[in-house]
Amino acid sequence: MQIFLDTSDVDIIKHHYQTGLIDGITTNPTLMMQAGRNPVEVISEISSVFSGRGYHIGSISAEVVADSAEEMVLQAEQYYSIGDNITIKVPCSYEGLKACKELSDRNIKVNVTLIFSLSQSILAAKAGATYISPFVGRCEDNNINGIELISSIKKVFKLNSITTTSILAASIRSIDHINNSFKAGADIVTLPPKIFEEMYHHDLTDLGLAQFDKDWKKLNS
Ligand code: G3P
Repeated sequence: MQIFLDTSDVDIIKHHYQTGLIDGITTNPTLMMQAGRNPVEVISEISSVFSGRGYHIGSISAEVVADSAEEMVLQAEQYYSIGDNITIKVPCSYEGLKACKELSDRNIKVNVTLIFSLSQSILAAKAGATYISPFVGRCEDNNINGIELISSIKKVFKLNSITTTSILAASIRSIDHINNSFKAGADIVTLPPKIFEEMYHHDLTDLGLAQFDKDWKKLNS
């Protein structure tokens, strides 16, 4: 059961990395646009944050954007040469899966993103993906049950003894999405930092803590 952060903000990553609870990072072109910086520099900095635990630890997904598999593979090189903890993210398209097959044949980890169906997951697994990313929130936006999709993928992977492709639930927008993704069999969830912060919170914890603080002060006064 792993937790990734879905962000390109290096300061936020450094902050949460210190908890020891973050197993990896996912980025995408939109998150890179929000960061407004050179993507290769951003990925290098994130990779070094994780190097504290060894460069092979953690998974940092860097997404390639190109029309052909050849261009994707070329673009991927500038990312995977950064370190062993880099995962190349490709879209679940004809060209993206061709690139996935070529990269995974070379033992480079690949995350196939924008997954909305079981059939896409099957092809991605056959192409050697290390991770597949079903988009739970965007499924819901389009009246697809993203949690049922994760259950089906899990079931089919189990029936076919697929153990080398992990299910990475993405487009997570609520605590329920996290809980239900794990209940359905996701191996990993990737979270916007705001949702990760919400995971800590419960009103009863705040109330209980306030009471304990009050009683502790009474005891010591
Ligand atoms: O991990 C994918 C994520 O960044 C997309 O999230 O909320 O834009 O669908 P969202």
